[in-house]
Amino acid sequence: MGCMALVNRTDTEMDTWLHVHADRVRDSLLNMVPANTALLAQALAHATARTGKLLRPKITLLAALALGHPITSAIIDAAAVAEMIHVATLLHDDVLDDADLRRGLPTVKHRWGNHVAILAGDYLLAQASLKLSQIGNIELVALFSEVLASLCEGEVSQMQFQYDTQLTMDAYLKKCQMKTGCLFAAAAKAAAILAHASSDQKAHLANFGMAFGVAFQLLDDRLDWVASKESLGKPVMNDLRNGLVTAPVLLATHPQVMPQVATLFQALQTTACADTAQIDALLNTIYPLVMPSLDATQAMAQQMITTALANVTGNTQGLTYLCQSLFP
Ligand code: FPP
Ligand code: MG
Repeated sequence: MGCMALVNRTDTEMDTWLHVHADRVRDSLLNMVPANTALLAQALAHATARTGKLLRPKITLLAALALGHPITSAIIDAAAVAEMIHVATLLHDDVLDDADLRRGLPTVKHRWGNHVAILAGDYLLAQASLKLSQIGNIELVALFSEVLASLCEGEVSQMQFQYDTQLTMDAYLKKCQMKTGCLFAAAAKAAAILAHASSDQKAHLANFGMAFGVAFQLLDDRLDWVASKESLGKPVMNDLRNGLVTAPVLLATHPQVMPQVATLFQALQTTACADTAQIDALLNTIYPLVMPSLDATQAMAQQMITTALANVTGNTQGLTYLCQSLFP
């Protein structure tokens, strides 16, 4: 392990370090083979205009840092591949969810329609494959190919659980692993593969990425229950409106939670009953029953991350810093 791994940075220095390398990832991401078709080029420019928090690339960068491995162009490109796959899933997800807004902008689906959104996602996946082939590491190709399969399975498993009030915590967590965790796990493990780390280090970093991703999903699902200014101080509860049971509901202990959720799902599926006043009344009944479990949801996410982080060896300062950013 190089002495770089032992260097401690202040939070500001860590922030600067992350910014510098995240910019390199952004350049690699945007430096894909340009589409010759103007419509596709526009859609891709739109989809990558706001790159968000770049959490997956940051996991790759910080995993490399933990291993004392330099931030080589292969590390940057692997981080970019993780983000390209992420953006592709969002393009497809917005079609599935019929979503009009993403990161404060109209979705590609909303501006150019489903066909362009799906094809732009496919094009990004093709570009990600090309970048992987340029890195030239067969283990990395297998890793990200498995991720693509898991992402599809996760999304289909979510569809199967729609309106299902029998969903167990285990099944929910499994879905979170496939839909969200696996890409974070691969982002972390990619650094270990490129650093020729031991199989233990690879496994521990993959486990950490998985835990980080599932915790991230739990916090995202919790956020759906938190009042926001944008929604005029009212929680969105979009997941429940879409027939999805998530962690806050599963952790709720009030005996009336699931019966009330079942009544809501029934109403949502009965077109005649799908009037907003009735749905809103049911959501208002469920809301106070679920509120007490928001803290437990956050605690569960925190616990997952702490446990997984404890197993990672090397300089985990950067990974710890990123974990803290999930819990403001
Ligand atoms: C966002 O979830 C979506 C995902 C984390 C995964 C989506 C996966 C697919 C569409 C299938 C596989 C696609 C490819 C390209 C391999 P969300 O709807 O809960 O979050 P949101 O609020 O950000 O939309
Ligand atoms: Mg969505």
